[in-house]
Amino acid sequence: MSQNTANPAPVRPVDEVYTEFVRAGSGRQSEEWVRLIREMAAHGPIADLGRNRFAVIGFDEVDEALKNPEILMIDFEHQQRFLEDVPDSVSVRAFADTMLMQNPPNHTRMRKVFRRAFTPRRLNLLRDSIEAIVDRALDALPEKTGPDGTVDLVDNFTYRIPIQVISDLIGIPEADRPRVEADAELFIKATELGDGDDGERRRLADEGTERLQEYFRGFIATRRAEPAEDLASEAIANSDAMEDPLTENEMTSNFLLLYFAGFFTTVHLIGNGIVHGDRERHWMPLVASGGTVADGYVGETLRAWPSILFTARRVADPVELGGTTLPADSDLVVMTSVANRDPAVYPDPDLFDPYRDHGRVLTFGGGAHFCIGAALAKMEARVALSKLWERHPDMRLSGEPELAQVPGVIGYNRLPARL
Ligand code: HEM
Repeated sequence: MSQNTANPAPVRPVDEVYTEFVRAGSGRQSEEWVRLIREMAAHGPIADLGRNRFAVIGFDEVDEALKNPEILMIDFEHQQRFLEDVPDSVSVRAFADTMLMQNPPNHTRMRKVFRRAFTPRRLNLLRDSIEAIVDRALDALPEKTGPDGTVDLVDNFTYRIPIQVISDLIGIPEADRPRVEADAELFIKATELGDGDDGERRRLADEGTERLQEYFRGFIATRRAEPAEDLASEAIANSDAMEDPLTENEMTSNFLLLYFAGFFTTVHLIGNGIVHGDRERHWMPLVASGGTVADGYVGETLRAWPSILFTARRVADPVELGGTTLPADSDLVVMTSVANRDPAVYPDPDLFDPYRDHGRVLTFGGGAHFCIGAALAKMEARVALSKLWERHPDMRLSGEPELAQVPGVIGYNRLPARL
């Protein structure tokens, strides 16, 4: 069991700390957020949140919770219980049939269709296209600069990269991209806690999701009839070659998953890298020069300022985890971001140190559901940050960044900068 020796004795009840931790706005890169991590960790390695819900906090326990086959992914049936206040809707249901919400054997069956299509060769081919996408976004930055001399690096840079990369990867034709992106944006907006009308946002997200489902159904049919050199064609061929191929709905849902899973998470990874670099500016030229320090910088951004703060699991029958018996039918909040700062594994955890070993960072999860796009996301962030700081070595963030306002996320919706 890992010992969180640097943690203070708990002062506030764990459910109070947890609520604050999950609340939107807690995900700013700040001293306050780091203090919340410490407060949460002081209740570790496993804390009872009440009502059959437990927070898994220590590194070893989080790692095991992700890898233990007796600890289950929350499927659609149990998701509504876990999310509590998120109403059922088309956009919530759209993910019911994805690999992310399955357990074996269905998970194994779906994942292998896509896992096999994510070959190192395909990723290498994408490298050139990522460089071109980043270069184009950088070329356009000066003309996007407003009269006040600032340019928003989210709208014009971090947001532009993953969406184009994922479209390239899947093979979405250029002509279809504007409508696919517009509908995807409606979905993303619905995940945010805003001041506006939630009902209206959800209605728009549902409409956008239905159009995306319709689009992907047509796209899959086209690619099945006329395969191309893309991941979609390969995944369809993989599925069609199996004894129990994916249904049309499973295929469509998993394309939607790929599209979204690789989108906002990577936007925020790049954004978080920019925000940290603005505070510790000595890293900027080192990252710009490329090499292993650039990889380390991305790894450390993932560890210290992860775009996803936790994930969830479920226990059907009693399971022993880190010396605690988790009772039947309980839910787990698996706090990967707290574990990433467990001093037993990462000495001096609040020091941002790109030279650490990042092999065990938990931001991409672990075990059977380990992120399929981890290598791709890291490649995108490395290229984006190196090229940004190579082209604009004196760049500075200017004005107030705007938070993403998505519970359980560290990220920014606006990053005004002077180039
Ligand atoms: C910084 C960027 C990213 C982060 C932080 C991230 C994080 C994660 C995490 C934590 C999981 C596992 C969830 C769990 O076990 O509960 C996951 C799964 C997944 N991710 Fe990512 N991801 C990122 C980028 C991407 C990209 C670029 C893609 C695709 C191109 C992608 C596709 C997926 C898919 C398909 C799964 C489901 C795997 C499964 O259930 O077997 N992700 N991701």
